[in-house]
Amino acid sequence: DRNKNGAGASRKTKEQSLGVIGAGTMGQGIAAVGLRRGVDVLLADNRSDALAAGEKSVLKEAAYDREKKGPDLEKVLDLGQHLGTVTESTEVGGCDIVVEAIIEDAAIKQKLFAGIEPIAKDSTVLCSNTSTIPITKLASGLKHPERFCGLHFFNPVRKMPLIEVIRGEKSSDETIERAAAFARQLGKFPVVVNDGPGFLVNRLLLPYMNEAAVLLGEGATIKAIDKTAKEFGMPMGPIELHDVVGLDVCLHAGKVLQEAFSDRVVPTPVVDKLVSAGRLGQKNGKGFFDWKKDKRGRWK
Ligand code: 3HC
Repeated sequence: DRNKNGAGASRKTKEQSLGVIGAGTMGQGIAAVGLRRGVDVLLADNRSDALAAGEKSVLKEAAYDREKKGPDLEKVLDLGQHLGTVTESTEVGGCDIVVEAIIEDAAIKQKLFAGIEPIAKDSTVLCSNTSTIPITKLASGLKHPERFCGLHFFNPVRKMPLIEVIRGEKSSDETIERAAAFARQLGKFPVVVNDGPGFLVNRLLLPYMNEAAVLLGEGATIKAIDKTAKEFGMPMGPIELHDVVGLDVCLHAGKVLQEAFSDRVVPTPVVDKLVSAGRLGQKNGKGFFDWKKDKRGRWK
């Protein structure tokens, strides 16, 4: 029983419907993985142009066929039946599980959840995909913080196996179990971590990426840094990774980490400068590198 905007009547252990708020890079990736795994997805974004573009990308990615090396058109039509879009984010409150993936701003996220909570079903699990903002802080204005936790995906979502499930101070065991089970339902590997700025992965990853940008400021070339990291065994160089993650995200995340660990994380100004110049990384085709997509939709 598939119900576009509500709990599937037959849900036992599997979640039937996923609400994704934010049709940017991460929201698109999360929605596409959900669709691929047979979950009804409701994608919300208050910017109707971003929503329309996001819907298209989600369907293209979810219907990607390895042999065709592109989207299978029949699959696009079929999956289109299971993807809804709304500009009013509170409408996702009817879904079994909700993942927020909007801008990295604690006040905006808090306001969003405060709007969804009164409308959400009692059984809805509310999650944030925040990169670094403590879950306890995001939950502070909620009446039921026990049903809130972090569900932190990595970019590109279709490819990265790990999901951090972040236990806020008041997240219930049931919430954590459902979030972790949902990660497994999506074919991912959940790791339950404690709350705190940057959680686990970004406390490791962002200082490493920042140090690469420091080296750049000291005169090392992008090629030398990225090539060396790859030869060392990293799947991609740390400067290229900035562009994949998004320079705006790196900037916000850097600020959160600096506030928490000012003795050891001092973001370099280069990321700030690039963002101010409108260079956000792959998401808008220009960051440290200039990007374009090839015929298969892969970044070059
Ligand atoms: N839609 C769907 N699937 C597609 C596709 C598309 N448009 N294009 C390709 N695919 C499929 C292919 O069929 C292929 O499948 P296979 O691997 O099973 O054969 C697969 O996707 C491979 O695609 P790619 O060629 O794009 O992947 P690569 O193997 O070249 O790897 C990479 C690319 C995954 C980006 C790798 O370089 C990598 O792991 N980089 C590091 C990424 C990383 O560290 N991410 C974390 C960032 S931190 C973050 O996100 C958190 C935040 O809070 C800061």
